[in-house]
Formats: sequence, C-alpha cells, structure tokens
Amino acid sequence: MIWDRLLRNLHLVTLSEGETGWGMLRDAAIAVQDGQIAWLGPAERLPGRQARHVLDLQGAWVTPGLIDCHTHLLFAGSRVEEFEQRLEGASYAEIARAGGGIMATVRATRAASAERLLEEGRDRLRNLMREGVTTVEIKSGYGLETETELRMLRVARELGREAPVSVITSFLGLHALPPEFAADRAAYVDLVAGEMLERAVAEGLVDMVDAFLEGIAFTREEVSRLFEAARARGLPLRLHADQLEDGGGAELAARFGALSADHLEYTGEAGVRAMAEAGTVAVLLPGAFYMLRETRRPPIERFRRMGVAMAVATDANPGSSPLLSPLTALNMACMLFGLRPVEAVRGMTVHAARALGLGADRGSLEVGKRADLAVWRIGHPAELCYWLGADPLELLLIGGEPTVPPARRPVLPRALPLRPSLRPAGRPGRRPPRSR
Ligand code: NIG
Ligand code: FE
Repeated sequence: MIWDRLLRNLHLVTLSEGETGWGMLRDAAIAVQDGQIAWLGPAERLPGRQARHVLDLQGAWVTPGLIDCHTHLLFAGSRVEEFEQRLEGASYAEIARAGGGIMATVRATRAASAERLLEEGRDRLRNLMREGVTTVEIKSGYGLETETELRMLRVARELGREAPVSVITSFLGLHALPPEFAADRAAYVDLVAGEMLERAVAEGLVDMVDAFLEGIAFTREEVSRLFEAARARGLPLRLHADQLEDGGGAELAARFGALSADHLEYTGEAGVRAMAEAGTVAVLLPGAFYMLRETRRPPIERFRRMGVAMAVATDANPGSSPLLSPLTALNMACMLFGLRPVEAVRGMTVHAARALGLGADRGSLEVGKRADLAVWRIGHPAELCYWLGADPLELLLIGGEPTVPPARRPVLPRALPLRPSLRPAGRPGRRPPRSR
C-alpha cells in the first residue's frame, strides 16, 4: 500500500499519553494515511514504502497541532474602556455589578448580525491558527436569550465548516444573569436548562455544556439544575470555577464528572482532591489572571502532587482575556504559574484534548491519531514557551492536509465608533482652539 503523505527530515515531539516528557524523536519521519498518523519513528527505520507526496521539512520540529480548549472567540464590540477603568482601580466584579463586564458584550452581541460575528470570528481564528492551533473550543454566552445564543452557536458551527480547524462548541447560557430576569433568577435558569438547551441540542449545536459558578454569576444550586438537565441528555460538562473566590466549583464539577474545571485560582485542597478522584482536567487561563492583575495563583503544586492533569488555554474574550496568542499563553503559564515548558506544551495538546473529550483522537503524535501537525522553525520545543512574538510556525497539517498558516489579521471590531477621547484632535466632537 502507498501512504498519502510522508514527512521526512524532521524532529518529532510526540507528547505521548501516559508519559510526562516531550517524547522527542530526532531525525525522524512521519507518514499519513486517510487523515491519520500511519507510521512514525526514526528515519533509519522508515519502511521502504512509497508515498504519494513527500515533504522534506529540512530539520524543522513537528508537534501535535495546538488545541485551544477554552475561548469566547465570538462576540461583538470591545471593552477597552473597562481596561482603562481597571487600570484606574475598578475591579472586574465591580464593573460587572454596575452592568458592564459580560453584559456590555451581551448588548453588543445581541445587536450584531450572524455575518458580522462570523467575519470577526474568522479574523480572530486566523490569529490562533497563525500560532499553531488546529482545534479550538468556542463558547456561547454573550446572547443570554434564546435567539442570540443560537446565533452564536450556529456561527461557531459555520466557522468549523469553513475553516480547516476543528471547532468544538460549549453552550454557556449560564454566563451572567440578564437584567430582564433580575427579579426572577429561577425563571432564567429554567429557560436555559429548558427551552434554550433543548433548541440548541435539537439543532445539533452543542458539544459540551459550560456555566459560570461565581458570586457575580450563578450559584451551585443553579448550576446543578442545568448540569442535571445536560447530563440527562448525555452531554459532557465543564465549569468556570473558583476564579474570584472558592465557591466549591471544583468539587461540583468533579461531582458531576465534568471533563474540566477552568480558572481555579481559589480552589482549595478539597476541590483538588475531588478533581483528582473524578479525573477532571484543570484548565489554567493565565491570560485572565494577568489581565485582571490577580495575585492568587491556582494550586499548581497540589495539582501536580495529586495527579490532576493541567491544560492551558487563551480564554480569548473581550473582557478578562483579550489574548489571541496561544504561544503567549504558554509563556504566561510558565512565567506566572510556574509550569515547566513541557507541562505548558502538554497542557495545550494532550491535556487540552482530554479536556474536550478528544483524548483518544488527537493531542499527541501516535499511530491512529488524527494527523493534526504543527511544523516549527525552532531549535528546541521549549522555545515555544520562550520567545514572545517570534512567529515560529512554518506549516500546519490538518487532518493530514498541508495548510499554510494564514497571515495575522487586525482584530479590532469593525466600525467601532470613535469615543471623544480617542478622536484625533481637530475632528468634530470638540471645537479646535481658536487661533488668532
Ligand atoms: O472566562 N469568567 C467568565 N467568563 C470569561 C470572561 C468573559 C468576559 O469578561 O466577557 C472568562 O474569564
Ligand atoms: Fe471563560
């Protein structure tokens, strides 16, 4: 039999499951058949088999394609004014309680058409691909009403159809309480766990169900109500947990057998133990930690000791983490959380795949797994965490198909109305000083 494709003259970083190291294989080759890895090993043991296409990678390093397992990539508008407010001392929670924060993005997203969301999402996705992403998770949660939640999820599906990357969706109806339900929280939770979830599932839009358990968001009881409805439908679960305080989120996620609990800055020992017992992956989001100037770090050492797998993601969103650079997230995981480079890279490959329930299919280089590969011009895989802004990606193979990394695109929302303070001097809005 002839292979579809043979890549040679390269070094492999296999990151095999069940191991803890890089799994480096120097002077190696890798063969692809039907979109999957068919063979890999040292070049000298390459079987004398032919391939339809042969690619000489000239000594580049090949890792599994990166998996960004936690993003809010689809939204409209920007929250740059909140960035300025936080720099003046306002907290994320204060801004949220005053009707800004997530609700500010909800207002903009409700007003945005599907076309607009798709166009902006496409530009953001290009930036992730540019740095090696071949699988991305995208959440809803900026609609908080049935039509807009469905629109977000449909756009996520559309992105997955048109882009070569795989898109995994999470339904995040419990992201914030919309003000129209301020007097009746239970009615909103009922709507989300009932009609909204049902319609989204009926349209085939939901791969996972997520929620935000926090003082400024939803309680354990409210999240449990949704999780029970989701579990009854056999949907995998995940949870935004313990980001701003220890609300017992990690324990709740573990009790429901959630695939992951995310953020976790304030998770205590009981939460870590429960996650270890349930096999729940800890998704670390150093971009949000950094942007909110958080000082409390997730319990990394406890995760290590108790054997909780750690994933790393961008959390790309317009509020707490306007981060469209997975390699920067890897650097932050090392610099801010103390992960070793190999832990960070495993966190965006093999453990991220597990957090999405895709561990058997991707995330490491093994025969039979999907041929999602990133080809890097580096001298050692730790350089993926080391350089900032180096643009080291040379090529992606997605399902075995070579894909030239797209050029970076500006990510500013289109037609953002200029605020007075940002208007160039002398433009309408403020009368220029009169000169004599
Ligand atoms: O993961 N914590 C809740 N959700 C997002 C923030 C969303 C936003 O601020 O718009 C997060 O950090
Ligand atoms: Fe998030």
